[in-house]
Amino acid sequence: MAGGAVVSATGGKDYPGKLTMFVFLTCIVAATGGLIFGYDIGISGGVTSMDPFLKKFFPSVYRKEKEDTSTNQYCKFDSQLLTTFTSSLYLAALIASFFASTVTRLFGRKWSMFGGGLVFLVGAALNGAAENVAMLIFGRILLGIGVGFANQSVPVYLSEMAPARLRGMLNMCFQLMITIGILCANLINYGSDKIKAGWGWRLSLALAAVPAAIITLGSLFLPDTPNSLIDRGYDEAALQMLRRIRGTDDINEEYNDLVVASEESKKIQHPWANILKRKYRPQLTMAIAIPFFQQLTGINVIEFYAPVLFKTIGFGNNSSLLSAVIIGLVNVLCTLVSIFTVDKLGRRKLFLQGGTQMFICQVIVGTLIAIKFGTSGEGDMPKTYAAFVVVFICIYVAGFAWSWGPLGWLVPSEIFPLEIRSAGQAINVSVNMLFTFAIAQAFLSMLCHLKFGLFYFFAGWVVIMTIFIAFLLPETKNVPIEEMVVVWKRHWFWGKFIADEDIHVSGKAVEISNGKPKGAGV
Ligand code: BGC
Repeated sequence: MAGGAVVSATGGKDYPGKLTMFVFLTCIVAATGGLIFGYDIGISGGVTSMDPFLKKFFPSVYRKEKEDTSTNQYCKFDSQLLTTFTSSLYLAALIASFFASTVTRLFGRKWSMFGGGLVFLVGAALNGAAENVAMLIFGRILLGIGVGFANQSVPVYLSEMAPARLRGMLNMCFQLMITIGILCANLINYGSDKIKAGWGWRLSLALAAVPAAIITLGSLFLPDTPNSLIDRGYDEAALQMLRRIRGTDDINEEYNDLVVASEESKKIQHPWANILKRKYRPQLTMAIAIPFFQQLTGINVIEFYAPVLFKTIGFGNNSSLLSAVIIGLVNVLCTLVSIFTVDKLGRRKLFLQGGTQMFICQVIVGTLIAIKFGTSGEGDMPKTYAAFVVVFICIYVAGFAWSWGPLGWLVPSEIFPLEIRSAGQAINVSVNMLFTFAIAQAFLSMLCHLKFGLFYFFAGWVVIMTIFIAFLLPETKNVPIEEMVVVWKRHWFWGKFIADEDIHVSGKAVEISNGKPKGAGV
């Protein structure tokens, strides 16, 4: 295709160029930033269920667990101290993402990834060698800083490198790496738990250094995105990079659009103050609502506490860890489904289908548990019955894996104009971390108090978020990232927040008819 951009059948502009090997490889390397996040999500639940670890760092929790003779299944593991270990990392990540936003904007996306990987590496070493709780917690804080930097920069990097029509697929490699990280951690816990000498937990924690080394070294070889190069004044380098990543010389139209976006962004001195302007209200709403809802699906109850949950419904130690591995596998495989369909089906269809599936499964799981344990929490679950529960949990995880999981990172990274992109992504990461923290902290006592109703609680939220998507999220597939404003302008509700003169695409104000821009958008 020659002669610049065309308006594609599905809406947005289609720039010339193909998916080059170069862009594919850089995206894979950058996506490995997701491994450190995933590894951490998967590792802490298993480690905190290992006796030698509890004895060394949390002896009171260990004693309580051993002495507990109550028959109430719902309250067996309720301990604030233990959840603090898991959740402290997310608070550190929350704060770090704000610093990361400045580094990402001023120095480029790759240095945020490099810095994140390096700090995570030190944290992993400290954790593996921990002799006391202080070393353990300090290590966790460093891990959190690493995750904050990586989650802030990687999704934006991927969305900027990718050609618009494959942005969903490439961006979702980040989520794929998260799920691979979780699965590896589940497998490692399964193995290290068997180490008789009692240092298995050290192995589990220290092996976090492997994914950290991958992203730290990998990021050194990554080029910066054309968007970021232009924004930092390296126009010539950006032009060459664009040619290289698109595999064609016919990049003038896209280049010009990037320059326009950058010029717009230069007018903005304070992204943090600007993001509050009325014209950014749709994006700001999404940057808060999407990560909030993603966590209110209840996914991390499964991710962090699957082994504990399975012990609760009567599984032995080993089969609990094994069930966690099975769930991890389902998570990886079903993320692939999303990767291969998101740019064809679009974001909305996946959100709506996945939400419905999660809702049905949560109601079924809640009911199955209610039938056996009632409100008293007393009773036994036969093996085949418990296996049924695991099957529905797997179908629930499948629904998450092709909807809210990957889309929770994709959509916020592709909707912001350049001038507020780093700040917007920092909000997305920090809201995500805040609610990951809150759920991790609250789950065990919520289970103790809400009992089986916990599953109905999350099911209720899934209904709300699905309605939210149905009415308020426009389709963003195939729309070039620097043209996204047009999509908001055409939306029945969000259009009201954007004035006609706020729309600048291709160096000139887009023609507006009947209050709607012509040409691009969906
Ligand atoms: C979420 C995590 C979650 C993971 C599960 C990610 O998108 O942000 O909180 O644990 O998916 O796969």
